[in-house]
Amino acid sequence: MRKLIVAGNWKMNNTFEDAENLITEIASALDEKKFKCDVVICPPALYLELATDVADISGLFVGAQNVSDKDSGAYTGEIAATMLESLEVDYCIIGHSERRKYFGEKDEVLAEKANKLLDYGIRPIYCCGEVLEERENKTHFDVVRQQLKNGLFHLTDAGFGNVIIAYEPVWAIGTGVTASPAQAQEMHNFIRNLVAENYNREVAENTTILYGGSCNSGNAKELFSNKDVDGGLIGGASLKADEFIKIADSF
Ligand code: PGA
Repeated sequence: MRKLIVAGNWKMNNTFEDAENLITEIASALDEKKFKCDVVICPPALYLELATDVADISGLFVGAQNVSDKDSGAYTGEIAATMLESLEVDYCIIGHSERRKYFGEKDEVLAEKANKLLDYGIRPIYCCGEVLEERENKTHFDVVRQQLKNGLFHLTDAGFGNVIIAYEPVWAIGTGVTASPAQAQEMHNFIRNLVAENYNREVAENTTILYGGSCNSGNAKELFSNKDVDGGLIGGASLKADEFIKIADSF
């Protein structure tokens, strides 16, 4: 069964105290109400333990924002999948456009990160999406095809079955310019068909495909009402509990 998910990508925001407050507010909203989607928060790694402690006693799920492609050893500053597993982290974002742009992450490294996460039972949230120029050149479908092929399509059916895809057009991230519901649906449908070609229709129908890029409580409902849009990966709007909860309540 395809899962609906709303995931908050906090990026590099919040002090420990802010994080504590935000996690507590989101957890108490989950206590009060049942949502149609799984609600996931992806705080900075320092706060993962705080989040997984709360997640234990609420319906919250927790994701990391990054993982190393190595197992362990002399890799200063890195965090291994086994460490995330030991904190009972459920998900991990990989291939976010900011990691691709500022940290030079390439699909081949992301493929290895996906392998490591799956080895430790953590579900990758694999980000893909084109920059503005690529959309204007009309190469956006080729770009996304290549990102998925290089980063994910080496996985077996069973491995791929645990992957979440997030389509995040780079021109929509943090800009206030959202993809139109029609643009989102068109790309999500393209992605689902690609998955069907590379695996099969059943795997494709069970794949969760999230939209990300200036998604907020004002546009979430319209975006999520599309047949192939199974929720969102939310940046800025995930930093305020009431806004994030409204988005989770948009199905
Ligand atoms: P945004 O970020 O919602 O602030 O545009 C989305 C993301 O980068 O995941």
